[in-house]
Amino acid sequence: MDIDSRALRNALGRFATGVCVISTVSEKGEPLGLTANSFASVSLDPPLVLWSLQNNSDVYDIFSSARYYAINVLATDHLEHSNRYAKKGDHLLDPGHFRSGKFGAPLVEDALVSFECELHATHEGGDHLIIVGRVTDMQAREDGEPLLFYSGSYRNLA
Ligand SMILES: Cc1cc2nc3c(=O)[nH]c(=O)nc-3n(C[C@H](O)[C@H](O)[C@H](O)COP(=O)(O)O)c2cc1C
Repeated sequence: MDIDSRALRNALGRFATGVCVISTVSEKGEPLGLTANSFASVSLDPPLVLWSLQNNSDVYDIFSSARYYAINVLATDHLEHSNRYAKKGDHLLDPGHFRSGKFGAPLVEDALVSFECELHATHEGGDHLIIVGRVTDMQAREDGEPLLFYSGSYRNLA
């Protein structure tokens, strides 16, 4: 059976996800953020998580080779962050949106949880690169509700 890409995208969209901003610092010292919903847990021991990066991203070289980065899980009040860091050519993090983590990656302020990661492995995944990171620290907010993405739209739990 030939799979039509648009139909596949629509079908995959029926799997509800959270929304994250992946953050890192470029070699030039710029703090960068990229919206992603491909985050998944991989392993508890060792602590590994993954996300996948489009091969044709303008910031592919930076995010695919970043040794230290963070995966920030967004809350409902971060909808503007999600749109902002999904814009092509506009991944510079606003100074008011982040603080520095223990291992150098920028952490999104008020994220539900931020996982600081050190690059563990990358794997080819068709038109994406699967990036596996070892979790080196976690910082969670006590309250807050998750920003959700379902069928191409943002949702919330209520
Ligand atoms: C809800 C949502 C989820 C996304 N998930 C991913 C993802 O998992 N991986 C990815 O590479 N891009 C993802 N994107 C696209 C990027 O955020 C962004 O649009 C893209 O990086 C822009 O192109 P550029 O990388 O060339 O600047 C997502 C966008 C949205 C709005």
